[in-house]
Amino acid sequence: MSPKRVFSGMRPTGKLHLGHLVGALDNWITLQDTHQCVYSIVDWHALMGEYENSRNIRSYVYDMALDWLAVGIDPRRSIIFLQSDVPEHLELQMFLSCLTPLGWLERNPTYKEQLREITTRDLQTYAFLGYPVLQAADILLYQADAVPIGEDQLPHLELTREISRRFNSMYGVELFKDCAAILTPTPRLLGLDNRKMSKSYGNTINLSDSPEEITTKVKGMITDAKRLRLKDPGHPEECNVFSYYKAFAPGQEKAAGEWCAGALKGCTDCKKSLADILIEYLRPVREERLKLEKDRAYIDEVLKQGAVRAREVAVKTMAEVRKAVFS
Ligand code: TRP
Ligand code: SF4
Repeated sequence: MSPKRVFSGMRPTGKLHLGHLVGALDNWITLQDTHQCVYSIVDWHALMGEYENSRNIRSYVYDMALDWLAVGIDPRRSIIFLQSDVPEHLELQMFLSCLTPLGWLERNPTYKEQLREITTRDLQTYAFLGYPVLQAADILLYQADAVPIGEDQLPHLELTREISRRFNSMYGVELFKDCAAILTPTPRLLGLDNRKMSKSYGNTINLSDSPEEITTKVKGMITDAKRLRLKDPGHPEECNVFSYYKAFAPGQEKAAGEWCAGALKGCTDCKKSLADILIEYLRPVREERLKLEKDRAYIDEVLKQGAVRAREVAVKTMAEVRKAVFS
């Protein structure tokens, strides 16, 4: 039996950070051992939100490719490509748009939340309402069995299933199968200020940060608010610094919990050790990235080859789609 296929995508919106690593990439890397993985830099999805700052997208694409390769997304085993290099995504989106009821899109909780929360950009556009239709096209084009995603994306995956079932039943085919979510086991990592880690909050530790940047950032992390003095016992479970120990140095988790709850070590020292842990953790990633940065032609070649391999699959699916709809 051929291995199951996995598809996932990420919007190029800037350098990747630790939240991306524990929230997605660690999972993507592991899946390469067991699945045929297709990973796409989804620049059309980025443009839907960033059409006013569109000139940044090209450099974000490049940053994303560098970050992916540096953490171990492996172009020999996985298909890594840029969404806009494979025009079939847009063609399938059109077919799916035709049969997607407006109500499904208007009801989408992620859409409603984003319209409410994002006030710095105008997202009241035709394309943005259709965001999940393009996402469905991404997934269905490769007939993916499973999609590694964060919990926030579950409504989009459910819509993908609804759209694919509607396609199958409308045209009397069994072309698309239901795809399953693969949720990341690790809880989401908070940013330096205890909010969700996000570039727009300026609270990230980036995969490409230098040791100095990491040290400064960790120093500024918010700690247990109830622990004011060194002799006050802390509450590690309520401290974001402690959750970083759990995620990046499970071997030291117990010790950290003890020095915190027992008031044996102060927060400044605790954060100093964490900074050292993160610096070592990210060292190989940063070194690999610095090496890859010098070879732009290699990155271009990886994306080019990725698009060729992606299209081999996409073209076959589209032939079947056209047949199902028109003949
Ligand atoms: N919407 C996803 C996100 O913001 C990105 C994405 C686009 C995606 N197409 C996809 C994820 C297909 C999984 C599968 O994270
Ligand atoms: Fe947080 Fe460490 Fe301070 Fe405890 S000692 S409150 S875990 S920073």
